[in-house]
Amino acid sequence: MDAALTPAYHEVRCPRCDWSAEPSLNPPRCGDCGAMVEPQLELTALELERAQLAERSFESMWRYAELLPIEADAAVTMGEGATPLLDCPKIADEVGVDSFSLKIEGENPTGTFKDRGATLSISAANALGVEEIALSSAGNAGHAAAAYAARAGLKAHVFLPARASFTMKAMVNVLGGDLTVVEGRLQDAGRAFKSALEDHPEWHPVATDHTPFRREGKKTMFYEVAEQRDWSVPDHIVYPTGGGVGLLGMFKAANELLELGWIDRLPAFHAAQSTGCAPVVDAFNAGADDITPIERPDTICGGIEVNAPGAGVEVLNVLRESGGQAIATDDDAILDAALSVAGLEGIGIAPTAAAGVSGAAALVDEGHISPDEDVVVIATGTGLKEPDVLRSQLMRHGI
Ligand SMILES: Cc1ncc(COP(=O)(O)O)c(C=O)c1O
Ligand SMILES: [Zn+2]
Repeated sequence: MDAALTPAYHEVRCPRCDWSAEPSLNPPRCGDCGAMVEPQLELTALELERAQLAERSFESMWRYAELLPIEADAAVTMGEGATPLLDCPKIADEVGVDSFSLKIEGENPTGTFKDRGATLSISAANALGVEEIALSSAGNAGHAAAAYAARAGLKAHVFLPARASFTMKAMVNVLGGDLTVVEGRLQDAGRAFKSALEDHPEWHPVATDHTPFRREGKKTMFYEVAEQRDWSVPDHIVYPTGGGVGLLGMFKAANELLELGWIDRLPAFHAAQSTGCAPVVDAFNAGADDITPIERPDTICGGIEVNAPGAGVEVLNVLRESGGQAIATDDDAILDAALSVAGLEGIGIAPTAAAGVSGAAALVDEGHISPDEDVVVIATGTGLKEPDVLRSQLMRHGI
């Protein structure tokens, strides 16, 4: 076994058909059905107690190293994770619940939760000895990958749609990445990336449908929420959902902690989308097992403008198994939610992240969340990368 792999990481398994394979720094897709596999941890052999964590400083997600597939010694890291879980009493009042908290993922090194996936996927790539990594992205994941690749001394090839924000595109360049801007939307950037990949066998892909380590890195958001709440699980977690990768990671983390006996129940995991691109909501409401792609996605929230989530089957399972819902609100309500969070709590969150806030409010309105329950919304990114979008919403209100 590779020295960069942790002792707990004992196999990869397909979530759809239970096919399994040896643990690896570059896991294959399922040999039977082609689905993305998941790294599995042997939790009974884990040499980590909950109480030991209290002795570790809260400065990076690598404090959970024993629960990750890659050894901390092999980490390409810059202190990602360990973000605040902020109580937002005024938003709680506005939404109509007793307790409302935001997980402030904007505090990550490149301003979004994508750094959690980047640290793990680039650490694996680096340990494999590759020299070039590549991905397509709506913007934030490309920015994160360029940063971690630079830190590891790898070349990053990043495909972004023209609609990605100037900051995201510029930072890929600034960080030394090779940027390809593709006319159109995320799916067009994805097509350009796949076709370039065929011409470049030397590129190691770190897109979410090529590596399970992006998902695995994002699971640490749930470990932190649980620990920050002194291991008391919130009733509801609402997540702005594009591909749903963070949702899958957090659900996996919650099941791991349940198996370890560190928590005593699962929260309800909810997917929040924009009405301009809501394939998960459509499939959930139709009782379907998989997602039907949206032909013309159109939302201001670039991070969740994902017309055909590759792991739709798994995302729908998470919602149903955890007793969650899928909810869509429109862009106007989403941007107003971002303005409320900024104006009432002083926090500038990304438009995409605000879909989680307006989604939570809609879940309360529709009776899926009761006023006496507590809600955590994953505020996946900072508003600092798209201030023009937030500012223009003020103009709609004549300001
Ligand atoms: C700020 C932000 N939030 C949420 C998402 C959606 O992530 P996921 O693929 O986990 O649904 C993205 C993805 O680009 C994003 O940039
Ligand atoms: Zn399979």
